[in-house]
Amino acid sequence: MLDYNTIKEKYSEENQSHVFQYWDELSSPLREKLLLQASEIDLNEVSQLIDEHITCEETHSLELSKIKPAQFIPRPDKIEADKSWKSAIEYGIEAISAGRVAAFTVAGGQGTRLGFDGPKGTFPVGIVSDKTLFQIFSEKILAANRRYNCSIPWFIMTSHANNNQTVDFFEKNNYFGLNKNTVNFVIQGRMPSVDKNGKIMLQNKSTISMSPDGHGGSFRALCRSGAIKQMEDLNCDIISYFQVDNPIVHCIDPAFIGFHLINNSDMSSKMVKKVDASEKVGIFTDIDNRTSVIEYSDMPDALINERDNSGELLYQAGSIAIHIISRDFAKKIGHGDSEIFRMPFHRADKKINTIAADGSDYKPKQPNGIKFEMFVFDALPIAKNPIVLETLRQDEFSPVKNAEGSDSLKTCQEDQLKQWIAWLKSVGVNFHENEDTKIKFEISPLFADSFSSFKTKWESLLNKPEIVDGLYLEN
Ligand code: UD1
Repeated sequence: MLDYNTIKEKYSEENQSHVFQYWDELSSPLREKLLLQASEIDLNEVSQLIDEHITCEETHSLELSKIKPAQFIPRPDKIEADKSWKSAIEYGIEAISAGRVAAFTVAGGQGTRLGFDGPKGTFPVGIVSDKTLFQIFSEKILAANRRYNCSIPWFIMTSHANNNQTVDFFEKNNYFGLNKNTVNFVIQGRMPSVDKNGKIMLQNKSTISMSPDGHGGSFRALCRSGAIKQMEDLNCDIISYFQVDNPIVHCIDPAFIGFHLINNSDMSSKMVKKVDASEKVGIFTDIDNRTSVIEYSDMPDALINERDNSGELLYQAGSIAIHIISRDFAKKIGHGDSEIFRMPFHRADKKINTIAADGSDYKPKQPNGIKFEMFVFDALPIAKNPIVLETLRQDEFSPVKNAEGSDSLKTCQEDQLKQWIAWLKSVGVNFHENEDTKIKFEISPLFADSFSSFKTKWESLLNKPEIVDGLYLEN
C-alpha cells in the first residue's frame, strides 16, 4: 500500500512537493495513479542528475588530445581462408548450440522520425511479402534455432507507450512460428522530465511527465524484469543485442560471438566504415585508453574530417549498434553494483507539454524542459576487453529511420535487394545489369539468412527458380 504522507515527505525533502499541488482536487483513482508514478521515481538519482546537469552547468567538453581512433578487427576478404575468423566461427557455433546465447532487441523507441504511428517493429519492410521488422527478426531466430538445433530465448525491450501493442502484435501473429514461451517482453524504465530549474514537470494535474530512460536503461530493465535471472536459469550467458530498425542484422552471428568469447570480453561491438565524414552514426574512439563511442552530434569538428596519409577518414569506425554483452556484465550494470558500474545520463532539451501555473494545458514552442537518457554504448569504457569487429555495410547495416532520404524504407529495400542480387550472382545466376534494379523479389530468412546458407540451399535445389518480378523464396 502506497502511503501518501511518506511519499509526499520524501518529495518535500527534495524540494519537489509541487508534484502534489493539485492533490486536493483529485479523485481517489487519480491520487492512486499519481502516487504509483511518484513511487516509481528514484528521487536521489533525479537530484543527483539535477546537480550534475543543471545546477553545476558543468560542460564536459572532450579533451581532444586524449581521443584516438579505436582499434578494430578488420574483416578479411575471404573469411573461409582466415584462421582467426574460422576458429571464432567454430567457438561461436559451439556456444549457440549449447544454448548459451539469448537474443535481445531494443524496441522501446517510437517510429516518430519515420512518421509511423505504432511500435517500430510492426513497420512493414518486406519487398514482396510486406513483412514487418519483428517478423524478419523472428524468422532469423527461427532459422538459427533450426540450424544450431537449439531454442534461443528472445528478449524484446518495449516501453510503457508501446508494450501492449507489441505484445498484441506477436499474439495475433502466433509469434511468427517461434515458441511463445521463448519470447519475452521487458518494459524499459522511465525518467521524469524536469524544467530548467530542476523541478519535476507535470503533464497534467495527476500525471508526472515521464519518458523512456534510453536504450542504456536496458541493463536495469533486464535485471528488474527478472530477465537476467531467467537467463541464469537457462544457462544463457551471452546476450546478442540489436536495434529494432535494421532488418539486415545477423541476429545470431557465430563469428561475432566467437571473437567475443575468445577475447574474454564483457561487451563487443560491430562497426562499418563510415560512408563519409557527415554520416550520422556514433564513432568508435579510444579515449584515455578506453574504447568509447562518441555520438555523431558530439564528435568534435576538429576530428570528424581528419584523414590519414592514404586519405582515409581517421575516425572511420561507425557504430551500427550491434553488440554482444556478457550476462554477468549486464547484471553488474543493471544492479549498479558500485559507482564504477553507474551509467551516465545524457541531457536532452525538449519541448514538453505541461500545465501552466493556473493549471491550464501548455504546449511550448521552444524547449522548456529536460529529458534524461542512458546510451548502451556508454558501458563500453567500463567493459573488460571490449573488441570492435568490422562487418560489411551491405551485409549487415541498412536501418529504417527516416520517412525519406537516407536510412528510409526506400534505401532499406534497395539494400535488401542488392544483397540478394549479389548472392545470386555469386552462385552463377545471370542478371541483365540494367534490369537488376527493376526486378523486385524477396528471400525469406527461412530460405537463407546469409550468403553461406543461401549458397548451400541454392545448390541443393533440383529445380532452381527463375528470378522474376514478385518471386518470394520462402522456405
Ligand atoms: C543510434 C545510435 C548511433 C548509431 C545508430 C545506428 C544512439 C544515441 N545513437 O542512433 O550511435 O550509429 O543508432 O543505427 O542510440 N530505444 C529504446 N528505448 C529508448 C530509446 C531508444 O528501446 O528509450 C531503441 C529504439 O527503439 C531503437 C534504438 O534504441 O531500436 C536506437 O534508438 P534511436 O533513438 O533511433 O537511435 P539513432 O538516433 O537512430
